[in-house]
Amino acid sequence: MLLIYLIFLQATLGATSSLPHHTRLDNGQAQTPPMGWNSYNHYNCFPSEKIIKSNAKALVDLGLDTLGYRYVTTDCGWGVADRLANGSLTWNETAFPNGFPALGSYIHDLGLLFGVYEDSGIKMCGSPPDNVGSLDHEEEDARTFASWGADSLKYDNCYSDAGTGYPNVEYHPSTSPHPRFANMSKALSQVDRPILFQVCEWGIDFPALWAPEVGQTWRIGNDIIPEWRTIFRTLNQAVPQTSFAGPGQWPDLDMLEVGNKIFTIPEEQTHFSLWAIVKSPLTIGAALKDDQTAINEDSLGILKQKDVIGYNQDSLGKSASLRRRWTEEGCEVWSGPLTGSRTVAAVINWKDEPSKLTLDLADIGLQHAGILKNIWDGTSAKNVQTAYTATVAGHGTMLLELQDTTPAGVYHSKASATTRGNSTVFKSIYGLTSSSNHTMTITFARISKQSSHATVKTTASQDAQPVTVPPSTKEITLSISLSAGSSNEIQINHTHPIESIKVTPPAGTYHPSTSFTLSGTAELITCGIDFCKPVGSKIGNISPDSSASISIPATVQTGNNSTKYIELDYINNDIAFSSAWEWGTNSRNLTVRVNSKDPVRLEVPLSGQHSELFGPGLGWWDSATLGLLLDGWKDGENRVVIGNEGGEKGSQRFGADFVGMRVFD
Ligand SMILES: *[C@@H]1O[C@H](CO)[C@@H](O)[C@H](O)[C@H]1NC(C)=O
Ligand SMILES: *[C@@H]1O[C@H](CO)[C@@H](O)[C@H](O)[C@H]1NC(C)=O
Ligand SMILES: *[C@@H]1O[C@H](CO)[C@@H](O)[C@H](O)[C@H]1NC(C)=O
Ligand SMILES: *[C@@H]1O[C@H](CO)[C@@H](O)[C@H](O)[C@H]1NC(C)=O
Ligand SMILES: *[C@@H]1O[C@H](CO)[C@@H](O)[C@H](O)[C@H]1NC(C)=O
Ligand SMILES: *[C@@H]1O[C@H](CO)[C@@H](O)[C@H](O)[C@H]1NC(C)=O
Ligand SMILES: *[C@@H]1O[C@H](CO)[C@@H](O)[C@H](O)[C@H]1NC(C)=O
Ligand SMILES: *[C@@H]1O[C@H](CO)[C@@H](O)[C@H](O)[C@H]1NC(C)=O
Ligand SMILES: *[C@@H]1O[C@H](CO)[C@@H](O)[C@H](O)[C@H]1NC(C)=O
Repeated sequence: MLLIYLIFLQATLGATSSLPHHTRLDNGQAQTPPMGWNSYNHYNCFPSEKIIKSNAKALVDLGLDTLGYRYVTTDCGWGVADRLANGSLTWNETAFPNGFPALGSYIHDLGLLFGVYEDSGIKMCGSPPDNVGSLDHEEEDARTFASWGADSLKYDNCYSDAGTGYPNVEYHPSTSPHPRFANMSKALSQVDRPILFQVCEWGIDFPALWAPEVGQTWRIGNDIIPEWRTIFRTLNQAVPQTSFAGPGQWPDLDMLEVGNKIFTIPEEQTHFSLWAIVKSPLTIGAALKDDQTAINEDSLGILKQKDVIGYNQDSLGKSASLRRRWTEEGCEVWSGPLTGSRTVAAVINWKDEPSKLTLDLADIGLQHAGILKNIWDGTSAKNVQTAYTATVAGHGTMLLELQDTTPAGVYHSKASATTRGNSTVFKSIYGLTSSSNHTMTITFARISKQSSHATVKTTASQDAQPVTVPPSTKEITLSISLSAGSSNEIQINHTHPIESIKVTPPAGTYHPSTSFTLSGTAELITCGIDFCKPVGSKIGNISPDSSASISIPATVQTGNNSTKYIELDYINNDIAFSSAWEWGTNSRNLTVRVNSKDPVRLEVPLSGQHSELFGPGLGWWDSATLGLLLDGWKDGENRVVIGNEGGEKGSQRFGADFVGMRVFD
C-alpha cells in the first residue's frame, strides 16, 4: 500500500509540476490561514457600527481572540454612492456615525485587527443602494484604508467587467479579473502598513495559479449558501486546489456558517473540520452577540475546538486532500500531514442517518498508529492497526489525529503477529485488491548460514506455498494471494523468527480510453500536448444511453465474484458559478459495470487546474484519479462498461469525461 501512496503522490505532483511556477507575494503575512469574523453571512450587506462593535467585543468576551480569531471585517454595505469632493472614499454616516477610523481604533483597542472590504469594480456587491467601488482608484483607496488603520482588505468582484457594461456579476468576463486584483495588490504594497489582501473573485480564471502572486488568500468558488448541499459543492471545488495551499497562500472556501442555525451540530462539525484541514481561512460568519442574538453553546464549542484550530494553524501549512470517495456508500476520506510526523484524517458520512464507518489506514498511507484521537467523539485509541471503525452521525465527520505512525504495507511481528513454535500468524493484513499477485517481502530477525525452508498460507489461498530460503539471506520476496479488505491473515511457518513483512499490491494494468469501444453519443476527444494525462485523449459526451466498453482479462482463483480495485482517471470542470446559488452541482457521475453486476457509481469532484475561460487546457483537459472497488470479476475475460447509467435521473445527463483506468489484478 506504500506503493499506492507513492503512485498517488506522483499523480498529485505530476499534475502540479507541469504548471508554470509563480512567485509568491512573500511579505511575511499569513504564514498560517487568517482567522476572524465577518459581517456578511449573518447581516448580509447591512452592517452597522453597533453590529460590528458588539460582535468584536464578543470575540474577546467569548475567548475567541486568544484562539486566533482576530480579523474583524465589515463586509459590503458600509459605503455610499459617491466619493468625497477630494476623491477619497467615505463611510455611510447613518450606519457608522463615528466613522471608520474610530471603528478601527475600537477594534484595535480590543487587541483585534481591523478588516475592511471593497470591490474591484465600479460599485460594491449589494448595490443598490449604490456603494462606490475602487476600480481606477486603487492607489488613493489603499492610502485611505491605511489611514483608517486597516489590517486586511477583502476585495470583491461585482460591477467589474467593462467589456459587458459593468453588470452586477459576470461569471464569464471578457477579460480576466487578474489585472484588477494585481493593481490593488500593488497599491497596497505602497502604503505604510501591512495589509493582508484577500482575493474574492469567486474562482473565475482559476486564481490558484495567479492569486498567490498578488495576495494571501483567494476564494476558490462562488459564495457558501445557507443550505447543507453547499458543503459538498464547495469541497468538490476544493479538490483540485489543495496542492496550492502553503504559508502565505491559502485557498478560501468562504466564511463559516457555524452558529447560524442552518446546520445540525454534526453538519457544523463536518463544515468546520474540512475548512480547517484544507487550510481555508477560518472566518466566523455568525452573529456572536447583538441586540437579538447570541451564539449557541454547541456551535461556540465547535468554533473553539483547539485541536481543529491547531490543524488549521499547523506551521507545516500543507492541505489535506481527497483520498477516497465511496459514492454508493455515501462516505469519503480526506487526509494530510501535520508537524510532529502527525496525520489528520476526516471521514465524512454524507448519509442522512448514522453509519458505522471504517477508515482503512492504507487509504491515508499508514499501517499503524500508536495513538489515535477521535476529535468529535472525544475518545482516543492506542496501537491502531490497519483499520479504525467508529459510528458517525448523519452528515457528521469522524475527525482523527494519528501519531506515532508507520507507513502502509509494513507489519512488524511484535505489533502485528502472534508466534507459536515455528508458526507466525499476521492478522488484519490489508489487501488493496483481490489478487494472487501481491508481493510480500519477509525480513528475518537473523541470518542463517544454512539454507532452510518455509511455508506460507493466506486466508485467500489455503494452499501452503513452499519457499526456499538460501543461506545468508535476510529477506525473501514472493507472490501471495490476498482479498480486498483488511481481514486477511498470513501464516508463515519457519524455524527462524521473523522481524517483519512488507506487502505491496500488484502494479495492475492500464487501459487507456483509446482501447474502449464506444456507443451512442460517447466520443473520443484529443487533448493538447501534456493534457488528459496519462493518455492524451479522453472519452466525452457520455450520456445515460451511451457507453465505453472493453474486455479485460483477470485472474480469479475461486468463484466468479472477485473484488478488484481500479483507479479511474476522469475529467470534470463544472465550476457551477451561477447555478451555485440554486440546485446546481459541480460534480458529475460515472458508472462502471463489471459483467452482469449492477453498475457502481462514482460522483467525481472537479479536476481542472486551469482557467475555464482563458486556457490553456481550458480546465477540461486536466485529469485526476480516484479509486474504487468493483465486485463481479471472474477468471478470464471480463466485460467492463463505463457509462452514466441512470444519468437521466441526475442533475447532469452527461457523465464526467473518462481518460482511462488501471485494474489492479
Ligand atoms: C446608509 O445606511 C442607512 C442606515 O443603515 C441605510 O438606510 C441607507 O440605505 C445606507 N445608504 C447607502 C448608500 O447604503
Ligand atoms: C479627503 O477629505 C477627508 C475629509 O476631510 C479627509 O479625511 C481625507 O484625508 C482627504 N483625503 C485626501 C487624499 O486628502
Ligand atoms: C491597472 O492600473 C494601471 C495604471 O497603473 C491602468 O493603466 C490599468 O488600466 C489598470 N488595469 C486594470 C485592469 O484596471
Ligand atoms: C520447528 O522446526 C524445526 C526444524 O524444522 C523442528 O525441529 C522443530 O521441531 C519445529 N518446532 C515446532 C514447535 O514445530
Ligand atoms: C503479476 O504482476 C506481474 C508484474 O507486475 C505481471 O507481469 C503479471 O502479469 C501479473 N500476473 C497476473 C496474474 O496478473
Ligand atoms: C504451520 O504449522 C501448523 C502446525 O504444524 C500447521 O497447522 C499449518 O498448516 C502450517 N502452515 C503452513 C503455512 O504451512
Ligand atoms: C458463476 O456464476 C454463475 C452464474 O452467472 C453460477 O451459475 C455459477 O455457479 C458461478 N460459479 C461459481 C464458481 O461461483
Ligand atoms: C460479491 O462479493 C461482494 C463483496 O464480497 C458481496 O458483497 C456480494 O454479496 C457478492 N455477490 C454475490 C452474488 O455473491
Ligand atoms: C449522480 O447520481 C445520483 C443518483 O442517481 C443523482 O442523485 C445525482 O444527482 C447525480 N449527480 C449528478 C451531478 O448528476
